[in-house]
Amino acid sequence: MDPNKLIQMARKAMEQAHAPYSGYKVGAALLCADGRVFKGCNIENASYGLTNCAERTALFSAVAAGKRDFKAMAIAASGDPAPYPCGACRQVLSEFCPPDFPIHVVTSAGEFETLPLGELLPYTFRLKPPSESSD
Ligand code: THU
Repeated sequence: MDPNKLIQMARKAMEQAHAPYSGYKVGAALLCADGRVFKGCNIENASYGLTNCAERTALFSAVAAGKRDFKAMAIAASGDPAPYPCGACRQVLSEFCPPDFPIHVVTSAGEFETLPLGELLPYTFRLKPPSESSD
């Protein structure tokens, strides 16, 4: 899929963000191997630490729907800074996605940067090798 199309879906997902505390809305779109796209937004909470990032919302929705094989993710935010995924999201993504998994981060109007997950999170914590962790 054209990264721009996935980015457009991430922008759309951002519209559902619940971000009354930070005012920083984030949207993510996750492309599955079967072509389906799962969207997610950040969902903040009055107890700040319970906030869920857009990336994990998208991934958890997809996993809960039975998806396990993912091709790419796009992330967009309502303003600066660019939404490079946080450490927690990098670790959660690495449970299901390989090091060459491409993440398209929208940097400014009409531009994006593509980074492989393995570059964002080298030395991922794993209890099992990827070949044994498919279920
Ligand atoms: N946030 C995301 O949803 N994804 C990111 O990549 C970075 C941070 C959210 C969490 C919180 O709702 C807001 O952005 C400010 O940290």
